[in-house]
Amino acid sequence: MARPKITIVGAGNVGATTAHWAASRELGDIVLIDIIEGVPQGKALDLYEAAPVEGFDCRVTGTNDYADTKNSDIVVVTAGVARKPGMSRDDLISINAGIVGSVTDEVVKQSPDCILIIVSNPLDVMVTKAHMQCKFPRERIMGMAGVLDSARFRTFISMELGVSVEDITATVLGGHGDSMVPLPRYSTVSGIPITALMAPERIEELVQRTRDGGAEIVNYLKTGSAFYAPGASVVQMVESILKDKKRILPCAALLEGEYGQEGIFMGVPAKLGAGGMEEVVELELTPEEKTAFDNSADHVRELIKTLET
Ligand code: NAI
Ligand code: 2OP
Repeated sequence: MARPKITIVGAGNVGATTAHWAASRELGDIVLIDIIEGVPQGKALDLYEAAPVEGFDCRVTGTNDYADTKNSDIVVVTAGVARKPGMSRDDLISINAGIVGSVTDEVVKQSPDCILIIVSNPLDVMVTKAHMQCKFPRERIMGMAGVLDSARFRTFISMELGVSVEDITATVLGGHGDSMVPLPRYSTVSGIPITALMAPERIEELVQRTRDGGAEIVNYLKTGSAFYAPGASVVQMVESILKDKKRILPCAALLEGEYGQEGIFMGVPAKLGAGGMEEVVELELTPEEKTAFDNSADHVRELIKTLET
């Protein structure tokens, strides 16, 4: 049986790091593609040359030609610009919409049956833009953000309580921005909700740090945004799909009535397996949580309007 083929569009920080994590987990053959000549080829060859040391049997190639991406099983889109200090993810809309739109067209010509994972920001708008272009069924197009936002929340809970990150689960719903909705009631340490382990004020501080998690890294780096945790988060989704693990992971999925929303990509727990986004998992929300989710959806809808003008 042939190895799965994973294309990563954009060989920048997130794209290259995603390739690195995917290769180290031996998930399949990897094609890195970018508009800049030489960069995907150089990074891919460098990563390939790590294979004998690390012991992974994956072919890693770099290219500027979409023909080389033909018949990919999964395509991850990280192409675009990243934010700098003082910018919000929303400031990236006009430039990244053009890039994500044209990239999606090219990808789909070569791999009409692929599963698309969009990463470019602002995430909820970019996955919508890609969907407008490709019109894939919702099982085959999704956005990555919730795994990252939840991972940040898990990290902060671990730092606070001094327990292993492995024993912490966290749930973050909604858009990937200031309106995201971390859910402490559904965030646990070995099954114990953190609401039983921390004062409400402290939980609220960790929730806010999670909402600001991307900006915290941008403010340190100054020249770009986070990439290690984003790359690892993409790879967790890719692995669940390629190995048909059916993990329940938060991702931006097209809602068709779930959570009272229709026709909008929002961060929700979803079952990821060989069929892609196989099922949206509905959590029971309190009225306050539902209001926060709906407000997040309203914010995403406002941003999407700018795509249509
Ligand atoms: P980067 O600037 O390091 O890399 C972007 C790459 O895209 C560059 O190599 C650039 O040449 C390439 N590119 C631009 N236009 C292209 C085109 N038309 N076709 C192919 N490649 C093209 O940026 P970084 O840090 O890798 O971030 C990439 C995107 O991912 C940004 O929009 C960023 O905001 C977003 N992001 C999203 C996250 C999420 O949770 N959804 C997390 C982290 C980043
Ligand atoms: C992040 O959350 C920039 O969306 C990116 O780090």
